[in-house]
Amino acid sequence: MREAFARVFGSAQGVRVFRGPGRVNLIGEHTDYNLGFVLPMALDLACFTAVAPNGGDKLRVYSEDMQQSREWTVKDLESLEPAHDWGDYVAGVAQQLVRAGYPVAPVNLLIRSTVPVGSGLSSSAALETSTALALLGDRRMEPLELVRLCRRAENEFVGMPCGIMDQYISVFGREGAAVKIDCRSLEHEVVQLPPDVAIIAVNTMVKHELGQSAYRDRVRECAEAVEVIRGIRPGVESLRDVDVATFEIAAEQIPPVPRKRARHVVTEDARVEAFMAASKRGDLETMGALFVASHRSLQNDYEVSCEELDFLVDTALGLPGVLGARMTGGGFGGCTVNLVRPQNAEEFSEKITAAYKERFGITPAVYRCKPSAGAGEIC
Ligand code: GLA
Repeated sequence: MREAFARVFGSAQGVRVFRGPGRVNLIGEHTDYNLGFVLPMALDLACFTAVAPNGGDKLRVYSEDMQQSREWTVKDLESLEPAHDWGDYVAGVAQQLVRAGYPVAPVNLLIRSTVPVGSGLSSSAALETSTALALLGDRRMEPLELVRLCRRAENEFVGMPCGIMDQYISVFGREGAAVKIDCRSLEHEVVQLPPDVAIIAVNTMVKHELGQSAYRDRVRECAEAVEVIRGIRPGVESLRDVDVATFEIAAEQIPPVPRKRARHVVTEDARVEAFMAASKRGDLETMGALFVASHRSLQNDYEVSCEELDFLVDTALGLPGVLGARMTGGGFGGCTVNLVRPQNAEEFSEKITAAYKERFGITPAVYRCKPSAGAGEIC
């Protein structure tokens, strides 16, 4: 990235490069902001942020993907307002650093990302974590503090009420493993997946506009369900505190829409536990069945899937060697994640590509997911 940095900013003296990975979530969807469980893994698709001092009074950033730059005077960062574009992720992280007592120096940043934007593979968290590390430089911050800071940038500055999963896995990712996160205690467990399964993401290449407002609606609907359940079971603070049996008792009193949303979350948390157990026994069939159950629940109860995602899942389930398929991430487009027997991986990729192209006239991108390490400096 040195050459590109020199081209954009005139010099590459003192350049350092920081990497923040994207992620694919295996199971546990829309559970993080309900303080439940998720099981993502960090990917080798990542955002790279190169940084060097500029000797002025501004924070400057150039995005190779957008082919655009933004700049802010560093002393204005603390009270900055969002501009509602990609620069908000950088400005939001910078603002949170200043507010947390880490002044931001005048630097130039160059951003290059291999995480496709809008793919549901968390390009924004990858940008946030790599930028936060680049702006910190040699200053150390506890990893969990870094996670929380990046999430605050998104919640408070960008204005997206996301949970903690994406920033957490981007920081805590492990090479060769998935990570089960308890979104209430914020503890995690490193999970070795059985070796005889390929994890393949297929990108619909669409991102429906509805996504952001629907996400807000889901957060609110889950809170409505919690209110009702609390009337029956005092002490319930989030859907994490509700097991399937308790939900069944309360269900009739919850209005129909929040009831469906809560049913998804409560059963999804149980599926994460069941998936973990199946993975430990190497029970690929059960892991696959849980993928499918998760997708149906997201499709019918949580209602965050779309025609393209459903088509990819239904098509995948008819292909040889496919153990399970589901949408991953927020929904309304983005990717599916598929558990495929390794010997069928190539055929899967060819057939799903051909079918999707025939149906929608779009070539989907197919990624063989390689669990990778979390954010850090690269040489
Ligand atoms: C988005 C959010 C995450 C999570 C997922 C759904 O990726 O950023 O916090 O809620 O959707 O599981």
